[in-house]
Amino acid sequence: MSAGWERRWASRARVAATPSDEGLFLALAPMDGVTDAVFREVITDLLGGDAGVSLCVSEFVRVTRDPAPARVILRHCPELARGGRTRAGVPVQVQLLGGAPAPLAASARIAAELGAPAIDLNFGCPAKTVNNHDGGASLLRYPERLRGIVAAVRDAVAPAIPVSAKIRVGWADDDALEAIVAAAAAGGASWITIHARTRAQGYKPPVLWRSLARASALGLAPLVANGDLLTPDDLGACAAASGCEAFMIGRGAMVDPAIFARARGRAVELDRDALVDLWRDYHGRLVASGAIESRALSRVKQWLRFAGERDPEVACLFDQVKVVGAWEAMDPLLGRWARARRANHRRSRGPRPRPAILRAAPELGRAEDRSRDPASAARSPR
Ligand SMILES: Cc1cc2nc3c(=O)[nH]c(=O)nc-3n(C[C@H](O)[C@H](O)[C@H](O)COP(=O)(O)O)c2cc1C
Repeated sequence: MSAGWERRWASRARVAATPSDEGLFLALAPMDGVTDAVFREVITDLLGGDAGVSLCVSEFVRVTRDPAPARVILRHCPELARGGRTRAGVPVQVQLLGGAPAPLAASARIAAELGAPAIDLNFGCPAKTVNNHDGGASLLRYPERLRGIVAAVRDAVAPAIPVSAKIRVGWADDDALEAIVAAAAAGGASWITIHARTRAQGYKPPVLWRSLARASALGLAPLVANGDLLTPDDLGACAAASGCEAFMIGRGAMVDPAIFARARGRAVELDRDALVDLWRDYHGRLVASGAIESRALSRVKQWLRFAGERDPEVACLFDQVKVVGAWEAMDPLLGRWARARRANHRRSRGPRPRPAILRAAPELGRAEDRSRDPASAARSPR
């Protein structure tokens, strides 16, 4: 592992604001339909607002022929009304997705005028509907066009506002990764986040952390590694394979919402009571933000479904609640699940078992090509 990583890891308690800053950069990934402003607030409010998240990214704002209107940008990123930060003070990047430089540049300008602290450009979305309309990962096939988009957006906003690009390692394979990274860097990307999969993979294994090493070797721009980072051990394994020292975490935040703090070396463990409190809080905040009851309920179920893919105990809970039609019926099931865990602990009399995700950490951290199958993501690919 590089000396750079050792230095970075040693100062991991410090929350780096960008991948180039001192400390460890850990971003919460954008996940359309998941990481809306309420989710971002719940995650960044954790641990008294000291959750350890460097940066959040909005769900993508689709830009086609015309610039995105201010109201659309504000809907995706209501934090702009508060200086572009979550309540806990974590900056939120506005992510734009499209294939036409001029309206993307105009949209970025509008976002900047609204107070966006940074802009991200989505070149990773694998959804057919998006790709067939010249958006997301389809641009990976045309590095020169990708460069032109980054350059146009870079020119449209003040130099102090970072403009980053979020890519995958390629379209059908990773052969063009160097060309794609070089294009994004030549366009002036402040940093490049790479989801270590091809577009063809969708969300299927293996995650290709090792491919990122080729991008790191270019040394053209700071890189942020992304894909299947579920535990602090995963960060080390990814750093060793990829040479990257900054990270973005998506689904891992649903499996272990305290992962950002734990990756910084803090002994934080969310037990089942804490998780249930968190889901109740999430539901309450969704309703308070104006979400209709059925939507709030399905958002909580969605969280349990994602987390259940990595945590068998949450999977059991999800099985119990997935057919429930009202929060009033679901809430007691959450409470019963937490109580059952407490009773089991008392009966076992032994040392309190670590949560499944912690027990799973060592082997998850070792194998780069472990066969994780993020089935949920395959179900709702973005
Ligand atoms: C449900 C879902 C929605 C997503 N939406 C977006 C999005 O709006 N913009 C984006 O750049 N990536 C999006 N992604 C990709 C994630 O940001 C991330 O690259 C991917 O999930 C791999 O990281 P992870 O293994 O940490 O989840 C989405 C992923 C999922 C699962």
